[in-house]
Amino acid sequence: MNVRLFKPSVGQEELDNIKGVFERAWMGLGPLVTQFEAAWKDYIGSGFAVGVNSGTAALHLAVKVLDFPKGTKVLVPSMTFAASATAALYEDLDIVFVDVDPQTLSISVEDLKRKYTPDCGALVVVHFGGHAAKMDEIMAFANANNLKVIEDCAHCAGGTYQGKKLGTWGHFGCFSFEEKKCMTTGDGGMLVFNMPEYHEVLRAMRWIGIDKDTWKREADYVNNAGVLDRHWYYEIAVLGYKYNMNDLMAAIGLAQLEKLPKMNARRLELIGQYLDLLGKLAVTVEPIFPYDLSGESAYWIFGIRTADRDAMVAYLKSKGVATGVHYMPLHMHPLFARFANETPQTEAVWPEILTLPLHADLTDAEVQYVVDQIAAFHAETQT
Ligand SMILES: Cc1ncc(COP(=O)(O)O)c(C=O)c1O
Repeated sequence: MNVRLFKPSVGQEELDNIKGVFERAWMGLGPLVTQFEAAWKDYIGSGFAVGVNSGTAALHLAVKVLDFPKGTKVLVPSMTFAASATAALYEDLDIVFVDVDPQTLSISVEDLKRKYTPDCGALVVVHFGGHAAKMDEIMAFANANNLKVIEDCAHCAGGTYQGKKLGTWGHFGCFSFEEKKCMTTGDGGMLVFNMPEYHEVLRAMRWIGIDKDTWKREADYVNNAGVLDRHWYYEIAVLGYKYNMNDLMAAIGLAQLEKLPKMNARRLELIGQYLDLLGKLAVTVEPIFPYDLSGESAYWIFGIRTADRDAMVAYLKSKGVATGVHYMPLHMHPLFARFANETPQTEAVWPEILTLPLHADLTDAEVQYVVDQIAAFHAETQT
C-alpha cells in the first residue's frame, strides 16, 4: 500500500468550472475572482476579501499595508512555516520569536507577554495544524497594547474559535489555497479584513499598484458605446506586486468552497478514527494536540508526538506510508538564526512531532493500515 501524506481532492466540479473559463477565454484577473472573493467574504463573515496568488502574498500585503517604520518588531511563533515570518522581513522589520503553547503548538500567550516590548507593532498568530490559538486571550493582550494581529489561517480554512470564524478575530486573516491545504486553487490565497480604508489600496497592491481592474476597463470599452477613448486609463499611486488571483484559480476555488465543509468534516471523521485506533494500542501514542472533535476546528494535519520520531519515519516509509515534520523551528534556518531567543517549549516538542497522512480522500482502510504499521513498529522496536 502507498499512503499519501496530503492530496488535493478535486474532480468533475472543478473541471466543469475550468471548462467555463476556457470557453470564455478570460483566464487572468477577472469576474470569477470577484465572485470568489464575494463567496469567501460571506463564508468567513468578513467585511472584505482580496484574492491573491498565495498565502505568502496575503501575509506580505497585510504587513505591508500597515506601513510600520523600519525596525518595528513583529512577534511570530517560533514553530511555523517560513512564510509566517518572511512577511516581516520583506518589509525590513525585525522578528521576535515567541515560544509555542505546549498544548496547542500555536503561539504561547505567556511567552507573548514576556517577549512583548513597546516597539512591537504586530503579531502573527498561526492556528497550527488547524487547532485554534487562544484568540480571546491574544486579542485582549493585543488590543491593550495596540498590536495589530495578523491571523495566519493557512491551516484552518473554515475553522472557528468560540463560534467565531478564524480569520475574523484579528485585524487581518490570511488564507492559503496551496495544493495541500484544507481546500485548494492550485496555488492561491485570500486576505480578509473589516477595515474599509484598506480595501482599495490592497486591491491595487495585489495588481502592481493599478487602481482599476483590466477586465472592467475592457468590459466598459466593449459594452459602453459612450466610452470611445481613454478606456485604457489607470493610475498607479502605490507600490504594488503581481500577487493577483486569476480566474482559473477562482474557478477551482468556487468549486472547492462548495466542498470545503464536507472535506473538513471528512478530515475530522478520519482524525476520530486515528484517535480511536491509536487509543486501542498497547503503547501510548500521544496526538500532537488535544483534537477537538466537536466540529469547531477545521484541522489540516493529524500528528503524533513520539520519542522515536526519526526511526518511525524510516519504518513507515519502508511500509509505504508518507510522513512529514511540521515544522523545524524557524531559528534553526540560517535566514532566521539572528532572531533566535529563548523558546524552550519549541526546543522540547519539535524533535517529537510527526505528521501522518490526512486528506479528504484518505480511506478508512488506509487509516487502519497506518495505525497497524505504527503498532508493528512498536512491536519490533520493543523486542
Ligand atoms: C503556516 C503557513 N503560513 C503560510 C503559508 C504560505 O502559504 P502559500 O504556500 O499559499 O504561500 C503556509 C504554506 O504552507 C503555511 O503552512
